[in-house]
Amino acid sequence: GKSGYDHYMLKEINEQPTAVRQCCGERVSELERTIDVDSLSALSVPERVQFVACGTSYHAALYGARLLRERGVPATAFLASEYDTATLPVDESTLVVGVTQSGETADTMGALRGANGAGATTLAVTNVVGSSAARTCDHVMYVRAGPEIGVAATKTFVSQQIALAMLACELTDEYDDDLVEALRDLPDKLQSILDSSSGREIAREYLEADAYFFIGRGYNAPVALEGALKMKEITYKHAEGFPAGELKHGPLALVTDRTPVFALVTAGSNPTKTIGNVKEVETRGGPVVAVTDGCDDVARYADHVLEVPETHSALAPVLGNVQLQLVSYWVANELGRSIDKPRNLAKSVTVE
Ligand code: M6R
Repeated sequence: GKSGYDHYMLKEINEQPTAVRQCCGERVSELERTIDVDSLSALSVPERVQFVACGTSYHAALYGARLLRERGVPATAFLASEYDTATLPVDESTLVVGVTQSGETADTMGALRGANGAGATTLAVTNVVGSSAARTCDHVMYVRAGPEIGVAATKTFVSQQIALAMLACELTDEYDDDLVEALRDLPDKLQSILDSSSGREIAREYLEADAYFFIGRGYNAPVALEGALKMKEITYKHAEGFPAGELKHGPLALVTDRTPVFALVTAGSNPTKTIGNVKEVETRGGPVVAVTDGCDDVARYADHVLEVPETHSALAPVLGNVQLQLVSYWVANELGRSIDKPRNLAKSVTVE
């Protein structure tokens, strides 16, 4: 059941500290002691990595690709429906990672079969044991989030991010002291957001908005996209996410006093430049909600602040995302939407 929550989505949002603990499990100590996590060392340092995924899982893939590139591995995230081995270098030295919560998404399965056919090594990052993706790929890494009932992906997204962070360390044998320590601290930090978020008040303040925009740079860019997807999916309101620099290349024309802009501003993801974009919004009369660890004093330029604790720069987006989940949830709740089963959508999309 819903354990006293009105919706599975809220229950699952609140289960995220546990989901992260489960995903980390013994893996974090294995990373620390350079033990082979999930028997993945057979894959060590492929020539290139290609991620294939859809929707929220694609946002996790964008994040995972960035983590690998930062560690020197050429890595790209593809929307599974656009992945085409005929137009890409794919061979035995290519690792293709399918990121799919359900392990059944038709687009992702199609891409993985294509990758297998082209001779790549394939890895499924999935939540469902024995799923099609798990059975089709050469290797599998389970994200261990526990069952997710709400159509909106919440705790599985966080778990995918964490799994991909560990995968990046494992693949590159790059033992990152600070990252491992930050992974250990992450569940408590998530909990502190869940205990103190003012997401509900912010949601009420902007219920009448014409549209919601989300911006962030670097590690925060995929979370800006995810923030918008979640908002659309469960509230049926217009929402768009952009890498912050893109705002001025077109979308800024839409900014008015009825379009709140949620800006992810955290240390290590180019906060000074994002604040520049925040000022552009402010000048056009757009309300700004900063999701921030307090770096660069962004509060001075924002109408509201949603705080996140400081953490490793690569994990800041994991925390920021939870604040955005809560805002979307409360907007949908206030609007009386069918939160766990949004119209027109299914939990697992088995057609191409
Ligand atoms: O099961 P998958 O991770 O492969 O699903 C992919 C998307 O259909 C899914 O993430 C979808 O975008 C979510 N409902 C968004 O909340």
